[in-house]
Amino acid sequence: MFIFFACQHGAESFLKSEMKAVVPSAKFAFSRAGFVTFRTDESFSAASLNQLPLTFARTRGISVGRTDKEHATDDARVDHVLSALADVDPAIVSSASQESSLVSSIDQIHVWQRDSKIPGDDGFEPGRTERADAVGHMIRERINVDSKIGINRIAKSGQLVLDCALVEPDQWWFGYHIAESVSTRWPGGVYSLRLPEHAVSRAYLKMEEAIRWSQLPLQAGDTCVEIGSSPGGSCQALLDRGMNVIGIDPAEMHESVLAHKHFTHRRARAADLKRSEFSETKWLFSDSNVAPNNTLDSVEHIVQNRRVNMHGLVLTLKLMQPELAEQIPAYIERVKKWGYEYVRIRQLAFNRREVCMIAMKSRSFRRRRPKTRKP
Ligand SMILES: C[S@@+](CC[C@H](N)C(=O)[O-])C[C@H]1O[C@@H](n2cnc3c(N)ncnc32)[C@H](O)[C@@H]1O
Repeated sequence: MFIFFACQHGAESFLKSEMKAVVPSAKFAFSRAGFVTFRTDESFSAASLNQLPLTFARTRGISVGRTDKEHATDDARVDHVLSALADVDPAIVSSASQESSLVSSIDQIHVWQRDSKIPGDDGFEPGRTERADAVGHMIRERINVDSKIGINRIAKSGQLVLDCALVEPDQWWFGYHIAESVSTRWPGGVYSLRLPEHAVSRAYLKMEEAIRWSQLPLQAGDTCVEIGSSPGGSCQALLDRGMNVIGIDPAEMHESVLAHKHFTHRRARAADLKRSEFSETKWLFSDSNVAPNNTLDSVEHIVQNRRVNMHGLVLTLKLMQPELAEQIPAYIERVKKWGYEYVRIRQLAFNRREVCMIAMKSRSFRRRRPKTRKP
C-alpha cells in the first residue's frame, strides 16, 4: 500500500530522510515539490500513520489511488476517486463500522493543491484555493446532494477525512486519514490564514499558526518576550491577543508596534540583558536569524536562571544549511534537559527554511481553545 504526505515546497528530501529513520521499511515511491509518497507493508494503518514523529510532514494519508491522463475531465476524475473509494473495506478504518463502504463513513473532504513556491516567495502563501474548494464540492455532490460532509473545514478529532491532493492538473492522489492531533484536523495540514492589513511582517502568520498548533494556554494579560522581534509582525499577533509583549532586538521596531501601549522594546541583543528582566515573563518566543545552537544558547542562558520561570517556549530554528535538519533530535534533547518535559517540533506551513519548536514544562499546560481578547 501507499501513504502520502504534503510538505513544504523543497522539503521533500528532509521528509525522505526522516522516513528512512522512522520507518526504514517504507520505500520512497513518488514525489513532486510539496508532495511525497512511500510504499509500506499492508499492516500500516491510519492510526499508525498518525503516530509517526515527522517534523516535515504537513499532513499525511493512506493512499487509495490516483487519477492520470486517462481521466481527462474533472467528472471522470471524480468518478474514479469515488469508485476506487467504494472498493475499500470500511473495516480498514474501524472494525465497528456498520457501513457497507468507506464512502458512506466520510465526515470531511479535504482537497488541497501542493505548494507552488516556498511560502512568502512572490506573495505565495499556503492554504485553501478556489480550485481545491471547487473539486471538494464536485466530490460531495457526487456522494450525496444533501450530504452534511464538510469541505475544507477543520475536522473534529476521530472523524474520517477523504483526502484529495491536486498534484498536477490531471493527477489527483486520493485516500483518507483519521483526524486526531491539531494539524491532522486542518485541510492539507494548513490552518488557512490571511495576513491582516495592519501586520508589519508575515511573521504574524507563523506566530498565529504556532499558537494554534501548539495550543499554548496564552492568556490576555500574560507577559511574554520575543527575542528577534524587529520589525514586529509576530509581536503584533501576541498584542492582538491582549498580551503584554517585550521585544528584544538591536534593530528598529516598526513605529506602529512601538506605539502599542502593551509593547516594550529592549533595543539590545538577548545576551546583553540581565536575567532579572525575565522574572515576570511566562512565555518566551524566539525568531532570531542565527543558527539553531545560537538560538538555544541564548534561550538556555535565560531559562536556566533560578529566578526565571518560563512556562513555555516557541522557538523558530533557522535551517541555514540543510544538514542542520539532522540535528533536530539533538535540539529536542537539549531543551528537555532544561526541564521541559513536552517538546515538539514541526515545519509550519507559514515557515520558510526553518522549523518551529515548542516546549512546555508539562503537557497539562496545553488546552483546547486559548482565550483571546481584542486589543
Ligand atoms: C526574522 S527577523 C525577526 C522577525 C520578527 N519576529 C517579526 O515578527 O517581524 C530576525 C531578527 O533577529 C534579530 N536578532 C539576531 N540576533 C539577535 C540577538 N542575539 N538578540 C536579539 N535579536 C537578534 C535581528 O536583528 C532580526 O531583526
